[in-house]
Amino acid sequence: MHQDIIDGLLQPVARISPKYFYDQCGSELFEAITRLPEYYPTRTERTLLKERAHDIAQAVGAVRTVIEPGAGNGEKGRVLCGILQPTHFVGVDISTEILQEGMARLRQEQPTVDARAVTADLTNHLELPEDIPFAHRLVFYPGSSIGNFDPPQALEWLRRARTWIDNTGGLLIGIDLPKELAVLEAAYDDAAGVTARFNRNVLAHVNRLIGSDFDASQWSHRAFFNTKASRIEMHLEADRGQLVRWPGGRREFAQGERIHTENSYKYPLPAFSAMLREAGFTRARWWTDERHWFALIHAQP
Ligand code: AVJ
Repeated sequence: MHQDIIDGLLQPVARISPKYFYDQCGSELFEAITRLPEYYPTRTERTLLKERAHDIAQAVGAVRTVIEPGAGNGEKGRVLCGILQPTHFVGVDISTEILQEGMARLRQEQPTVDARAVTADLTNHLELPEDIPFAHRLVFYPGSSIGNFDPPQALEWLRRARTWIDNTGGLLIGIDLPKELAVLEAAYDDAAGVTARFNRNVLAHVNRLIGSDFDASQWSHRAFFNTKASRIEMHLEADRGQLVRWPGGRREFAQGERIHTENSYKYPLPAFSAMLREAGFTRARWWTDERHWFALIHAQP
């Protein structure tokens, strides 16, 4: 169990997958991040979705089922259901409790929507309920969540999403665009230190999962834009040399040594369109805010 975490910790440059950010505490911290003044993606996307609702509904056409991988607390899904009025909604997330609350709330607020919660790790195979109709599905992947994957994995993800729908279906995806360095870096290193707590919390989660003895107070948050790779990188940097142990293993970290915890890719629209085409989505429409900070894209096979 959790051999992948141990393997990551033993790499020459240690790494922990960003999926381990989201324990109960981490999911709450992420929600706090989305409300930070510096963290523009959530707010920009929500405004786009609200202000362009009519255009988006028209472009998307008839939708019976919305499938949202990484639905979290279901907030965006509820907004989209209000716009598209599907008969089914399938929220998929690794964080069961928050997801189930969100789906219960969706059923309560919009009783015509059959809302289901599917607990799944999105890096593995996704098993959808069997009675969900195949025609007129919309895969909703907001928040620039796709930015966590390296480009080859992002392409793979798009190809998989293509298999969840038929020719009557589509994909509505949010992507964060490249922009001024200071704006990008502030969004991942906020003044209140919430992102730093979010980053450090991964160590407490890993301690519970593998029985390690990380002392989170000994690690500093580092976030910067890697221009060449067009991605924000988050790392945890050891404040001093230390030995971390877990049952059956250990690793020594030198002062200043880092654990790579996250990449968040920022795709220029043309690059992302090319990737969509490669994944079998040949038709695409997109909407962006005035500052061109974030884009919502509707793509069809
Ligand atoms: C949930 C992956 C979209 O990359 O902006 C926010 C995660 N990490 N602040 C992002 C995150 C630090 C977020 N995604």
